[in-house]
Amino acid sequence: MTTFVSGRHFLHTPGPTNLPDRVLRAMDRNAINHRGPEFGELGREVIEKLRPVFGTESIVGIYPSSGTGSWEAAMVNTLRAGDRVLLTRTGQFSHLWEQMALRFGLDVVTLETDWRRGADPHAIGQALEDDKEHRIKAVFVVHSETSTSCMTDVAAVRRVMDAAKHPALLMVDAISSLGCTAYTHDAWGVDVTIAGSQKGLMVPPGLSFCAISQKALAARPGGSPRSYWDWEPLVAANKTGYFPYTPAMHLMWALREALAMLQEEGLENVYARHARYANATRLAAAGWGLELQCQDPAAYGPGVTAIRVPDGYSADKLRGVVLDKFNMSLGNGLGRVEDKVFRIGHMGDLGVLSLMGALSGVEMGLRAAGIPHKEGGAQAAMNFLSTDR
Ligand SMILES: Cc1ncc(COP(=O)(O)O)c(C=O)c1O
Repeated sequence: MTTFVSGRHFLHTPGPTNLPDRVLRAMDRNAINHRGPEFGELGREVIEKLRPVFGTESIVGIYPSSGTGSWEAAMVNTLRAGDRVLLTRTGQFSHLWEQMALRFGLDVVTLETDWRRGADPHAIGQALEDDKEHRIKAVFVVHSETSTSCMTDVAAVRRVMDAAKHPALLMVDAISSLGCTAYTHDAWGVDVTIAGSQKGLMVPPGLSFCAISQKALAARPGGSPRSYWDWEPLVAANKTGYFPYTPAMHLMWALREALAMLQEEGLENVYARHARYANATRLAAAGWGLELQCQDPAAYGPGVTAIRVPDGYSADKLRGVVLDKFNMSLGNGLGRVEDKVFRIGHMGDLGVLSLMGALSGVEMGLRAAGIPHKEGGAQAAMNFLSTDR
């Protein structure tokens, strides 16, 4: 039985993120005819306003699905059983993407990591150089590996693909990076960018996105049997602001409001804010004397920080104490790092004081859960946040 706890819940998972009041209010209305003119206007506006966030002039398709749906769409529209793909297992989400590819009968070449850094562009480049017959049809990259808080340098991956003169498609999972850091689908030469509504975009779960290059669209005849996930009817309908089926219209209203908020703050400011909060969180971890899961400073993520508890201690116990005592949800360790890390989500709609509340909650939780640590992590974050900018 849950007991009553006063005060607001601190949602510090790396998605879903806090929903701004403006976004909540935008959904508080009656449904409309999704084939009428008002919906078409909404659809066109949302798609247009998504473009700068993806850094693309190309197609942005919207599915009423979680991010996993757009993973599947990217795969079945461009690849078929037996096709070879190259993926780096940087953490749990690239692992799950690999598992999906295997279920579709793809021939997956997986480069392993220790889950403490991003994908290695040199290793990807070498695998492509070795692939003289161009059997690799696609390179899969998770931009922000939410399970480890490590980033992969997508531009560097494109550079090695170009250097190897390899024609594979570049597919990027930007689910937990979009809206948190600069992303440029076109400039990085990405063929499919996959994203979701519930993280940096501050919208409830339930929408996913595929930014699609002309090259990826042209690969459709080589894809798998598909129906719901077929890009063709989606892209054709989205062009006019509509959907080939009943759209999640309330989420579209939410998204319009969230995009307006991003526009008002200015994307550069949004990204700078995320970088600043991530920095403050890492200073707190250093102050507690706890290790970051990410060991490469160049790969630190903007929206989430995964922190290791000392060997022999339980990160899940810490999270349980923090939830029970302080009414705060933290992200859990996934897969290989289950119970070894906890993750502080600092993406989406967040002010300095919310972040400080979260970091204070963690520090109190460490003490209450009996996890060995040093005092003063929250203080280190406060020092930084009060003097910086
Ligand atoms: C990097 C990454 N990829 C994929 C997913 C799966 O997305 P969804 O849960 O929206 O299907 C997540 C979810 O957290 C994620 O963080």
